[in-house]
Amino acid sequence: MAERVEVLLSEEEVNARIRQIGEQISRDYEGKELHLVCILKGASFFTCELAKRITVPVSLDFMSVSSYGASSESSGVVKIVKDLDEPLEGKHVLVVEDIVDTGRTLDYLLSLMRSRGAEDVKLCALLDKPDRRVVDVKADYTGFQIPDEFVVGYGLDYAQRYRNLPYIGVVKFD
Ligand code: IMP
Ligand code: MG
Repeated sequence: MAERVEVLLSEEEVNARIRQIGEQISRDYEGKELHLVCILKGASFFTCELAKRITVPVSLDFMSVSSYGASSESSGVVKIVKDLDEPLEGKHVLVVEDIVDTGRTLDYLLSLMRSRGAEDVKLCALLDKPDRRVVDVKADYTGFQIPDEFVVGYGLDYAQRYRNLPYIGVVKFD
């Protein structure tokens, strides 16, 4: 079975949108310091590009999680594989995620961050698949709303591959 990737959002479109979000975040957090929490591995490319476009002082931390159960459908039971290095007390936290799908992972993560004494916790997601939502999670900043298709690239993987694509694509089998 041949596998190919069809472009859904080009490199130019993605980069232009990230630049816009960076400008918006810079305006919204004017006069404050921002603590970006990147959810590994998927959000790594997005976090780097976004952080470069933010003009207020930024600190960065990383968390790696895996959800129990079938890999294509998250269960909402989240295992922390690598926890944050820095405390969140008093910080303006912006969680950066690759995609909001069912919302289960983020629902768990956002409550966890809020329980750790952050001043405020917001969410920035590159992609949003609203048709798939099971738990009510809304991103404060969203790159693109996309249809219910399995996408790869810009950090997103299919069996750990394709993360390095500079665009967002859909895997096709033919
Ligand atoms: P949720 O808990 O269902 O919202 O799961 C979100 C996680 O599932 C994301 O962080 C991704 O790792 C993964 N995921 C969901 N949809 C896709 C997709 O289309 N491509 C690649 N990974 C996806
Ligand atoms: Mg992920």
